[in-house]
Amino acid sequence: MGLLLASCAKLASEAIERIQSHQEIHRLAQNLESSIGQLDKERKKVEQEKVQKENILDSIPLGLLLLNEQGMIRCRNPAAGKILPPRLLEGKKPFTEAFPDGMLSKAREAVLQGERFSRWATTLSEPSEDSTRTYQWGLVPVGRESNGETALLCILQDVTEERILQRQLLEAARMASVGELAAGTAHNLRSPLGAVKGILELLLEELDAGRIACYATDTETARPTRTVKEQLQIVLKSLDKSFSIIDDLLQFARRPDRPPEKLRLQGVLEGAEVLLAELFKERGIRVEKALDAQDLFGRKADLMQVFLNLYSNAYKAMPEGGILTIESRSTVRQPGNIPFIEVVVTDTGYGIPADHIPKIFDPFFTTSGRVEGTGLGLSLTRKMVKEHGGSLEVSSTLGKGTSFLLTLPTYPDGLPGRPEAPV
Ligand SMILES: Nc1ncnc2c1ncn2[C@@H]1O[C@H](COP(=O)(O)OP(=O)(O)OP(=O)(O)O)[C@@H](O)[C@H]1O
Ligand SMILES: [Mg+2]
Repeated sequence: MGLLLASCAKLASEAIERIQSHQEIHRLAQNLESSIGQLDKERKKVEQEKVQKENILDSIPLGLLLLNEQGMIRCRNPAAGKILPPRLLEGKKPFTEAFPDGMLSKAREAVLQGERFSRWATTLSEPSEDSTRTYQWGLVPVGRESNGETALLCILQDVTEERILQRQLLEAARMASVGELAAGTAHNLRSPLGAVKGILELLLEELDAGRIACYATDTETARPTRTVKEQLQIVLKSLDKSFSIIDDLLQFARRPDRPPEKLRLQGVLEGAEVLLAELFKERGIRVEKALDAQDLFGRKADLMQVFLNLYSNAYKAMPEGGILTIESRSTVRQPGNIPFIEVVVTDTGYGIPADHIPKIFDPFFTTSGRVEGTGLGLSLTRKMVKEHGGSLEVSSTLGKGTSFLLTLPTYPDGLPGRPEAPV
């Protein structure tokens, strides 16, 4: 009986155990099911995000190339195929060696050694298409590949059209300087020519009145040719023609007469910087500003031209990049304690030799070569600053850099708000 009871107890405990493990299995199965459901949700979410990311990569106009450590293309977005010539994407040699200036190759080495590499621009000529295009690009590390190597992302933008536009804007700015000089010259020519015309008219009157009579003679035959009167009339006609050319030129070159106004220095500087920002960035020129004074008074277009000329000179003086600093402070000019602003534009370029310093404000003095410069920039800049009642001075150390000190009025004479001169 005892034995029976014992075996019954054993059976019962085994049954309970089995029931327990059954429940366990059931619980496990439920857990598993909910985990699978969760995983499925996550998978769908990841797939959705993947599609979204792919759509973004496919639709942005930037070329994106994923490269391995050797610089070979692993994958790319469609825009890369549109902006780059197909031969660069064939993948026979590393993409980092595709550009002739070798900068992308250097960037690869720098990035692999843990250095930071920002942006650069490379010009690429395609003889087959007879075109030259400029690409701005950057290279950044983007984590590790499965073999432990660093993956690199090359971001490319075709900036050809922008560059052409920038050059045209600079050219337009330079032509504006030339136009201004032409207008000045035309104006200056008018006075002496006017005097010549007056004397000729007087002479004609004298001839008409019979007070002078003379003939011009042919030098060989010594016979009278045209009368002096006739000749004077021809000269007068030519003079009238010259006047009409001068007037046309003055008419054409006349700037819209915008009156001087109250301005903020920051706004004027930005107007000039916009034109050169990309060129500065491309060459690694940093602009630093410490503007302790902002108010100035003048014609905005002229003052923007002033800073554009100074900036463009600094750009030419820093072929390897550098720092362009603009500082400003308030000052007063004597007599009369008139408030002025001082602006100092300093570059870290190659500087100006001492024997050039007295000549740089002369019209047509240039060391830039005929294509790069007319030598009119600084002479017109100083002229415009003087027209504003200001001054422009230079100081320079060869091999270190150049500083231009500009003073400009803060208020016009008599404008309300101008502090009264102490009595
Ligand atoms: N920041 C500077 N650093 C070194 N040299 C300068 C600087 N600014 C001017 N110069 C010298 O002064 C010369 C005259 O400058 P200016 O601006 O009048 O003419 P340019 O720059 O040569 O030509 P343009 O302005 O007509 O394009 C320059 O050719 C250069 O030799
Ligand atoms: Mg210049």
